[in-house]
Amino acid sequence: MDQKEELNKAIDIPTAERKYLEESNPKFNKLIITFLPFLLLLFSIIGLRLTRNSKLIFIENNNIQNANIHDHSLLGHLPYGEISKEKLVVIEPNISVHIDMKESLLKMRQDAKNEGVFLVFLSGYRSINLQEEIFYSLKSIRNQVATERARVSAPPGYSEHSTGFAIDIGDFNKPKTDFEVEFENTDAFRWLKNNAAKYHFKLSFNKNNKNVDYEPWHWRYEGSIEALKVFEASNRKMTNSIN
Ligand code: DAL
Ligand code: ZN
Repeated sequence: MDQKEELNKAIDIPTAERKYLEESNPKFNKLIITFLPFLLLLFSIIGLRLTRNSKLIFIENNNIQNANIHDHSLLGHLPYGEISKEKLVVIEPNISVHIDMKESLLKMRQDAKNEGVFLVFLSGYRSINLQEEIFYSLKSIRNQVATERARVSAPPGYSEHSTGFAIDIGDFNKPKTDFEVEFENTDAFRWLKNNAAKYHFKLSFNKNNKNVDYEPWHWRYEGSIEALKVFEASNRKMTNSIN
């Protein structure tokens, strides 16, 4: 026994079992190689199923959201409250609008005029009572049922006009096109199409609308937080129906 061994024995150092660990196990490797394709297939199927399920959950949530929006709509129109009187301003005889949009609207008309295009305002704020008269009287005169009438006129409590943020615009030189689809062939409409967004105006009822007819003359203002809140549901509805 040499000196070192003697020393170890004397202080009794615990030692680990001296066992050789093989780095690779050929049996195990063979097993893995045999079952790897099956494992990959299994994981792919599980992955695909999970993706499909999450897609279904997303579609379902989206449908619930759509249903919530549609729950509140009536004949394709969303509900709108009436503007409070103190926010209403008269901009010319028979035309009142929300104070938020007055400046922008008048500037838009002036700028168009400077370019030789003459916009006329046909209808601005309409009370819910007036909307009721329009909806029911015209409906009976034209012998139309509510769904037909709602294509051209919102039921009372459902018109953007009651918010003071909507304006119907005509071309001063083409009175025959007032409230007609032919308005889209006027200089006024062409100018609005190219410029209205600069003044925060947007066409409310475009050609893609399912329940309401195309109204090239009807524009709404979205240039204030209040206006954006008022039209939030409508904008969400449009985004959802595009997707
Ligand atoms: N003409 C639109 C739809 C309204 O009556 O508000
Ligand atoms: Zn209108």
